[in-house]
Amino acid sequence: MEKTLIILKPDALKRGIVGEILTRFEKAGLKIVAMKMLEPDYEHYYEHYENIGEMISRRGQEAFDVTLEFMQDGPVIAAVLEGIEAVALVRKMVGTTEPKAALPGTIRGDYAHMSFDYANGIGVGIPNLIHASGDPKEAKKEISHWFAENEQYEYKTVHDVYTQAEKRKKK
Ligand code: PPS
Repeated sequence: MEKTLIILKPDALKRGIVGEILTRFEKAGLKIVAMKMLEPDYEHYYEHYENIGEMISRRGQEAFDVTLEFMQDGPVIAAVLEGIEAVALVRKMVGTTEPKAALPGTIRGDYAHMSFDYANGIGVGIPNLIHASGDPKEAKKEISHWFAENEQYEYKTVHDVYTQAEKRKKK
């Protein structure tokens, strides 16, 4: 089973839509195996967005600076979701980075609409509600950056009946 990291950003908390967003993942059968609220400092985000995400070379210093400022605008909720090919599934459910371009039915497409042009014009990080790991390698690094081993849990959900081949064979 694969794990991925999500971060519900300050705009999701301030808009009071944390429950609605998490419900989407639960309905899809993804298992929450770790979760906490925290207000990380600059160094924590530097590790996440630059040392792990290599954002400055891909997006530029300005986008990096406004993103870190935006992320430090309040507490966030970080969680680890587990499921079959969870990284790609969660990215699909989240939608593309720019809310303007995110398709209806995705979290960013349904709950936001700002464009990069508009955000850049007013010099802010784009309020796109949620971060999700980009690929399985990045997910592993991000999960160990945000969560200690003893903050991650194992338990069974109803969905495991369908996802555990061994159990199915016994019946
Ligand atoms: S993505 O979607 O993961 O590929 O995005 P990535 O290129 O890794 O990182 C971009 C993160 O920066 C945030 N951001 C912006 N990017 C570009 N331009 C502007 N103006 C900008 N403002 C914020 C964007 O939301 C990505 O954050 P995460 O948390 O990765 O979604």
